[in-house]
Amino acid sequence: MLKYNLIVAVCENFGIGFKGDLPWRLKSELMYFSRTTKRVSDPSKRNVVIMGKKTYLGVPPTKRPLADRLNIVLSTTMTQKELPENVLLCRSLDEAMQTLESKPWCKQLENIWIVGGSGVYAEAMESPRCHRLYLTKIQERFECDTFFPNIPVSFQEVPLDEYTPHGVQEENGIKYEHKILEKH
Ligand SMILES: NC(=O)c1ccc[n+]([C@@H]2O[C@H](COP(=O)([O-])OP(=O)(O)OC[C@H]3O[C@@H](n4cnc5c(N)ncnc54)[C@H](OP(=O)(O)O)[C@@H]3O)[C@@H](O)[C@H]2O)c1
Repeated sequence: MLKYNLIVAVCENFGIGFKGDLPWRLKSELMYFSRTTKRVSDPSKRNVVIMGKKTYLGVPPTKRPLADRLNIVLSTTMTQKELPENVLLCRSLDEAMQTLESKPWCKQLENIWIVGGSGVYAEAMESPRCHRLYLTKIQERFECDTFFPNIPVSFQEVPLDEYTPHGVQEENGIKYEHKILEKH
């Protein structure tokens, strides 16, 4: 069974989004997201990012699809014509995972990242496919209209890996810290 990791940045009031965008501007955190979701141990392979329609459309048009990763968009209403050819449209998270497990070209893929939004995170955290949650805790409150779901108690913090910056980070006076939680 293929497994995946989740990655999210959450502020103190558990917000993740506002008006289709991120509630904050943190370039260094976005770079962490990009580095982490692109990292492969086999340079001939690439990773997968799976996201809901609003998350995909929230990425600035010049920056989507997210580069160097297979982008999978979940939507029950979009058509493939509304998306670039190299973006895969799936009707459910299960359909996305079954596609990844069945197609021969999927041998060229390494890690699968769930990158939001709310409902996708909630479903993904409940699944036995879920391995880790890469959580950036932003130590400030922001106005938000989209929130991270409750983290099940089966998730426990594990030591940070060698690629993740340790300790409190700061950009433009906003403090944040990376955590990694594993599902037990
Ligand atoms: N802070 C962070 O790390 C982070 C990460 C990601 C997103 N965000 C923010 O969160 C907001 C977007 O998140 P959101 O929760 O509002 O929306 P979303 O999950 O990105 O998109 C919701 C839409 O995606 C489709 N969808 C979602 N789950 C599906 C599933 N399992 N199967 C089929 N289709 C599915 C549905 O589209 P249809 O109605 O077409 O079926 C649904 O209406 C934005 O503000 C974004 O910037 C923040």
